[in-house]
Amino acid sequence: MPERSDPPDFEHRPVMVAEVVDALQGAPPGTVLDATVGGGGHAEAILEARPDLSVVGLDLDDLAFAASERRLARFGERATLHRAHFADLGKCLDGRTVEGLSGFLFDLGVSSPQLDCAERGFSYRHPGPLDMRMDRRQELTAAQVVNETEERELAGILVRNADERFAHRIARAVVARRPISNTLELAEIVRSAIPAAVRRTGGHPAKRTFQAIRIEVNRELDRLAGALDEAIDRLVPGGRGAVLSYHSGEDRLVKDRFSHAATGGCTCPPRLPCACGAQPTAMARRRSVRPSTVDVEANSRAKSARLRVVERL
Ligand SMILES: C[S@@+](CC[C@H](N)C(=O)[O-])C[C@H]1O[C@@H](n2cnc3c(N)ncnc32)[C@H](O)[C@@H]1O
Repeated sequence: MPERSDPPDFEHRPVMVAEVVDALQGAPPGTVLDATVGGGGHAEAILEARPDLSVVGLDLDDLAFAASERRLARFGERATLHRAHFADLGKCLDGRTVEGLSGFLFDLGVSSPQLDCAERGFSYRHPGPLDMRMDRRQELTAAQVVNETEERELAGILVRNADERFAHRIARAVVARRPISNTLELAEIVRSAIPAAVRRTGGHPAKRTFQAIRIEVNRELDRLAGALDEAIDRLVPGGRGAVLSYHSGEDRLVKDRFSHAATGGCTCPPRLPCACGAQPTAMARRRSVRPSTVDVEANSRAKSARLRVVERL
């Protein structure tokens, strides 16, 4: 059963809701950007907890957009939604947040309905086309990445986006078996490409490959750094930014942009006073936070989550 007012066709259980709301508790009144609004679960919790905040929500996915529209309708003008890439946050915000952002949230990765719906092609467990597009208006699909990328580049994608240690074996096997037409075929090729002993340990052998291809299709990492920098720049003093990431590549990037803001991009040798004139713009609120065991028990997708919070100086 959906938890609260989830629309019937989009049931995503948001991760670490209490921690996200808590992170934004100290933010000044105003506008919060929810850069990946999904089904609107976090946005709803923020709007309920803080009547002095409004939310601008973005999502690339048509179904997520429609679901959050329905879920947040009761907040009237306090919730505004755009079907947009978070890299275009400036276009969505300009003209309405003259005084900047009170807060932002990036809840990265996929939503449950994207994974659960076989036709979307995100899942190695369900038979479906090699699609994996969050924005179904875009041309590039997983089929093109899988069937048209040169072997060395394909291996690079698997390393870059998922730290896959058998990247070269998998890329070789994929290239040898092309054209590959569906998700289960790809999952089986990946499974048979990795050593038998490894197949029996850890999670599903194709998990990392699917993650890496999804990230490539949706250009999830290459536009994230710029979007985070811009969101931090747009925070008002005391404004808070929260990011939930779900794998090490994402988290490394988030940590890097937060520390760039905290040092102002200072290039001076460590332990020497800064002489390059860099100005810190924000500080990390605390170390990253992992979900509680209660959260993980209630929602297995929370398992890999990591929350980082930044405060604008
Ligand atoms: C983990 S879900 C967010 C769930 C949301 N916090 C909630 O409470 O329902 C991630 C969402 O981000 C969206 N998304 C992924 N990359 C995006 C991007 N570059 N720009 C905008 N939305 C994106 C996905 O379509 C998905 O709906």
